[in-house]
Amino acid sequence: MEIVEKMRHFRVETHHPQGRFRILVTKKLPGTRWMEILTDDDCRVEVGNLEETINADGLKAWIGDSCHGVIGQLTEDWNEEVLETLKAAGGQVYSSYAVGYDNVDIEAASRLGLPVGNTPGILTEATAEMAAALTFAAARRVIEGDQMVRAGRFSGWQPDLLLGTLLRGKTLGVVGAGRIGTAYARMMMQGCRMNLLYFGRHTNEDLERFYDEFNTFLTQRNEKPLTISFVADLDELLVHADIISIHTPLDESTHHLINRERFSLMKRHAVFINTSRGAVVDEQALVEHCRENPDFRAGLDVFEFEPRLVEGLDALPNVVLTPHLGSATRWTREGMAVLAACNVVGILKGWPVWHTDDMEPFLSSARPKAVPSIVNAGRLNLPRYTDMTSSA
Ligand code: DGY
Repeated sequence: MEIVEKMRHFRVETHHPQGRFRILVTKKLPGTRWMEILTDDDCRVEVGNLEETINADGLKAWIGDSCHGVIGQLTEDWNEEVLETLKAAGGQVYSSYAVGYDNVDIEAASRLGLPVGNTPGILTEATAEMAAALTFAAARRVIEGDQMVRAGRFSGWQPDLLLGTLLRGKTLGVVGAGRIGTAYARMMMQGCRMNLLYFGRHTNEDLERFYDEFNTFLTQRNEKPLTISFVADLDELLVHADIISIHTPLDESTHHLINRERFSLMKRHAVFINTSRGAVVDEQALVEHCRENPDFRAGLDVFEFEPRLVEGLDALPNVVLTPHLGSATRWTREGMAVLAACNVVGILKGWPVWHTDDMEPFLSSARPKAVPSIVNAGRLNLPRYTDMTSSA
């Protein structure tokens, strides 16, 4: 009944209705290029306009018995049943408008032989900038200051008004030094001359080289070199870092990676940032920790039960909250839309999967005859772009 009610309010905008391939796009995407890519390749594109997130039953009903592919959102539950419905309807690809894919049952998709696309690379710098923005906002109490001024509570300069934390020269702790964590570390290191501790599955040679090269530059200027250390033990990083930023994907091993015990290891004045996925952090534990430690600061762009917040989070003055804006720049979101469309078209055409993290070639008018990114390409034995080119 609830589904029927929801579907009644669900209007679909159809483009190129005579197209051979039926592609569903669950939410309207920024820009126009993505639509041109799909319609130029003979796709009939149905764009959902539901304000609310469509649930699994709604998705199954919309897919119906004939659908070649879907561009979906991180807010939707792409579980086994929905993916089975897509496959049974003739689905050849599920393309996610995000880099993170914790909402997609990759195991089931792989078993069904369904490629799952995502949009890496293009949003790296934007998300790292958001982490940096939250770091500055939390450390320097930007939101508290803004609220004070707007409320007419600013009665003039004071020596001790809203004192925050100086970032320069402090120790940065990056949890998960993949693409985004690395970009963030570089920004903070160059901008604020920060020493780095990083935790992950293995050492990051590119990042270590970057520090080495920057240290050469610093020593030539008679400035003190910075340190970089890989730590195999997360607790060690939490104890020593002044700023801690989370950049791990969400999976079973990272769910509540940061819990009550781990908050208690952090410095009382630490700044804690999360731009990855909310459930990496036990949000209730974070609320209690921030309540008990008023000098501790947090900046969150993602939430455990997004869009809902756990009780009390929004009342904390030492927490800065943004509504999952990591990749929210026009260039980035339009680029993600292009990649999501290219993932669909590339699979329909049987093209090989792109071989590097550099996705910008797909934004040019002469885009490569390749599929930008398929997370289960290895498991499905999809051909790689380099294999094709070397055998050509
Ligand atoms: C992603 O892509 O996974 C982000 O969370 C949204 O840009």
